[in-house]
Amino acid sequence: MLGRLNHVAIAVPDLEAARAHYRDVLGAEVSEIEEQPEHGVRTVFVTLPNTKIELLGVLGENSPIAAFLARNPAGGIHHLCFEVEDILAARDALGARGLRILGDGRPKIGAHGKPVLFLHPKDCFGTLVELEQA
Ligand code: CO
Repeated sequence: MLGRLNHVAIAVPDLEAARAHYRDVLGAEVSEIEEQPEHGVRTVFVTLPNTKIELLGVLGENSPIAAFLARNPAGGIHHLCFEVEDILAARDALGARGLRILGDGRPKIGAHGKPVLFLHPKDCFGTLVELEQA
């Protein structure tokens, strides 16, 4: 079911500084900052030869990143994103195996314009998992 690792997401307290760090210190290719209002985040994608890093900053008052940063003020790994061929089939199969889907269970459009879902971290060894339709 799981396909490629699409990205590793890191929550950061200062998105501009994190973007500059990846670009200027680590020498990586970085995107512009984009706002994702439906997810309460601002994102920067760092493109690596084999996968991507998604830098996540706070957007708005109910941002999930604000709660994460309250527990991890320096930032930290927030989620892993795996590609799946058919997100509804993956949701139904994983739900039947007892995994909890966050939210109302309906895919939202993610940062790449493709449907995404999140699995409960307690069902994945303490790691928030995003599924993105390939
Ligand atoms: Co993500």
